[in-house]
Amino acid sequence: EHTRVAIVGAGPAGLVLSHLLAQAGIESIVLDQRSREQIEGTIRAGIVEHGAAELLASIGDTSRVHTVGHRHDGIELHFSSGDGASPAGEPEAHRIDFAALTGRSVWLYPQHEVLIDLIAARLAAGQDLRFGCTVTAVAGVESDRPRIAGTTAEGEAFEIEAEFVVGADGSRSVVRPAVTGPSREGGYFREYPFAWFGILCEAPPSAPELIYSNSDHGFALISQRSETVQRMYFQCSPDADPNSLSDAQIWETLQARTPGTELKEGPIFQRDVLRFRSFVSHELRHGRAALVGDAAHTVPPTGAKGMNLAIGDVILLDQALQELLLRGSERGLDAYAAAAAKRIWKSQHFSWWMTSMLHLAPEASEFDRLRQLGELRTVVESEAGQRFLAEAYTGWPYQTAL
Ligand code: DHB
Repeated sequence: EHTRVAIVGAGPAGLVLSHLLAQAGIESIVLDQRSREQIEGTIRAGIVEHGAAELLASIGDTSRVHTVGHRHDGIELHFSSGDGASPAGEPEAHRIDFAALTGRSVWLYPQHEVLIDLIAARLAAGQDLRFGCTVTAVAGVESDRPRIAGTTAEGEAFEIEAEFVVGADGSRSVVRPAVTGPSREGGYFREYPFAWFGILCEAPPSAPELIYSNSDHGFALISQRSETVQRMYFQCSPDADPNSLSDAQIWETLQARTPGTELKEGPIFQRDVLRFRSFVSHELRHGRAALVGDAAHTVPPTGAKGMNLAIGDVILLDQALQELLLRGSERGLDAYAAAAAKRIWKSQHFSWWMTSMLHLAPEASEFDRLRQLGELRTVVESEAGQRFLAEAYTGWPYQTAL
């Protein structure tokens, strides 16, 4: 079997790439190990950057990002002043007005809804999309006919020959070793001494916009899903067990970390613990294989860059593949890794910065805590500081590789 581009992974990266390639007349096969139901049902982050939302809205008439999604023109940064600037424990609330600072916004639209839209659009366009397919081997990436092999949902062996192989298959990518060499550790790593305890609950929104709160008790994020469902997180230990806390304990923790805001409580119907890691693969492309999205990098969730960064990668790779497959030039491909790395490291920095500014590290000294409050004050009391955050959060304009 032959295709022009074999795309491993039907997440946001793989599906958007297959769309962009199809628009240029380049045929691809997209394979994913998971079932369609699993992909469409897994709860992930909820914030889509300005430019990513525009791109998603342009993909088929199934996109609901601008209709079901909600535009957010800002966020709230809260912190309690342990720095003596105001009475102890007195909360401060500062709004970062994205629209006024940058003319851009973000869209609150959950990633699994993005995937439901994209899968519908790709299937309607006749895309060859295969669920339940496990890829076990990637070979020949140094030739111009790389191959992937594996097993279908029905347990049958398959082999696909392509002109290019894309690893869009997440943090445990099976394509990555073909790009980085056999050492799976071929990357830059950072771990964090905390995680997020996340819940979904049935309740009205507690505030009009998202609240990122750095309290004396640790971090909390009050996010949303709809008028009737809310998403909230609080900093916890990386080995926390999601079932170890009662609903009452969860609400107590969240309320304690959002002083000055009365959270609207309701039945909790989902809970999970998200680990924090930063990772960038040493290599993003080798021969006729390249990595995009979580296969290439992982960011901690603060700042919601994961899906948005994946879309940034595929915009660059699409251009490179068009040059290769329509014009026979490797120039774009040779520029891909360096061009992608620029946005990747900016996003890595932003995710690390939001994380380090908002969380209480277990080993933090009093100096560390007061410095952190000084950092938050530096941001919220300066228009330049606010704009720095707003530009990154709403997403830097997409660049072209050349
Ligand atoms: C959500 C997740 C994030 O990581 C974030 O920064 C904002 C919102 C969310 O799931 O709603």
